[in-house]
Amino acid sequence: MNIGIDALACATSHYCLPLADMAEALDVPVGKYHVGLGQEHMSIPALDEDAVTLGAQAGARLLAATGTAGIRTVIFATESGVDQSKSAGVFLHALLELPRHVRTVEMKEACYGGTAALQSALGIVARHPKEKVLVIAADIARYAAGGSGEPTQGAGAVAFLVSAEPRLLRIPAVSGVYTADINDFWRPNDSSTPLVDGHLSMDAYMDALTGAYDDYLEQGGIPAAQLARFVHHQPFGKMARKAHARLMAHTGDSRGDEVIESGLAYGRQIGNSYTAALYIGILSLLGTDPADLTDTAIGLFSYGSGAVAEFFTGIPVAGYRERLRETGADAEGVAALLAARETIDFPTYRVLHGSLRTDAADFSTPPQTTAPFRFAGVSSGVRQYEVRS
Ligand code: CAA
Repeated sequence: MNIGIDALACATSHYCLPLADMAEALDVPVGKYHVGLGQEHMSIPALDEDAVTLGAQAGARLLAATGTAGIRTVIFATESGVDQSKSAGVFLHALLELPRHVRTVEMKEACYGGTAALQSALGIVARHPKEKVLVIAADIARYAAGGSGEPTQGAGAVAFLVSAEPRLLRIPAVSGVYTADINDFWRPNDSSTPLVDGHLSMDAYMDALTGAYDDYLEQGGIPAAQLARFVHHQPFGKMARKAHARLMAHTGDSRGDEVIESGLAYGRQIGNSYTAALYIGILSLLGTDPADLTDTAIGLFSYGSGAVAEFFTGIPVAGYRERLRETGADAEGVAALLAARETIDFPTYRVLHGSLRTDAADFSTPPQTTAPFRFAGVSSGVRQYEVRS
């Protein structure tokens, strides 16, 4: 069975900050951000945006192209949760006007959550080949102001449909997995920003990469030397470059950045989007790589702090570029999405950053986002979302 991703769409936030402005304001050489981290802009959410509104935007774009026929499960992956009990996926189910006969859950393991959702979806479709699973992954990466993680913030969402007859990316069943209990990055219940040991997290990421890859090989995976391209989880572009160098040294392959470069273009402009980041990288590869990647095997590495990781592959299906266009996720569509963001300066960003919480907006907040969905405030403890027609 050729199960995989049938279509993919993405969304990002209303605002963006050029990292050159941050460098100037914080008196940091801009090369540290542009070259040292490999980042140029970061998407910043408006007060009336959250993981639900970003996910709904991506979902609406996807479903406008695919329709909802066959969807019986929605899995929402996020680490920017808005409730400890109710799945934020249920808000998405309502905003996207999905039918009642759909099961809806939220999934969490830091940035790995999107891949956990994908793997669950593949399992459901293997059991019920006529069904489709809608996966939405959305996050707001928000670190403490003044901390080392601040220039690696961002916001983004993807929505994809998993089906038995994928028109975008087949996902072979072979997969390598890895778990290690490590405190590299986590967000306790009483904190709106994560606690992070940045350099430990980079080491943990790379140990997880070689660990997951070794398991992938043991499970019968195609060796790295035969993979045409790689997309590694990208909290910032340089991390993916370091990961690639480590994987090449580990496997004896000697290919350089040319096999990861096109997967880094969108993340460089959006910043970290946690659960969505790997899938935005996949969109970047499929949308911008000059080569025809049809029927080639692409190595995919998903990492979630804490830590859980997976190495697996995706195989682009003939016509994948046209399929991207249908959901507005081709290179032109994504360029338009990025250009539509409102650029803010550093002082404006810092005020916004200080106010952002999961319940930042209230009913007196004038609309900021121009997106089709906005968070309007909390009434009697209930989150309220508005849909613009
Ligand atoms: N020109 C060019 N490069 C420069 C430079 C300049 N003027 N000044 C510094 N650099 C380079 C440094 O040499 C360094 O590159 P190398 O690592 O290749 O040597 C790079 O810029 C970064 O410099 P520092 O290591 O000094 O940066 P830092 O300590 O201030 O922050 C960080 C780096 C710790 C990763 C920080 O960004 C952070 O905490 N990020 C959040 C955590 C994170 O993203 N971890 C990644 C793995 S965990 C994960 O993947 C899950 C997830 O999504 C969070």
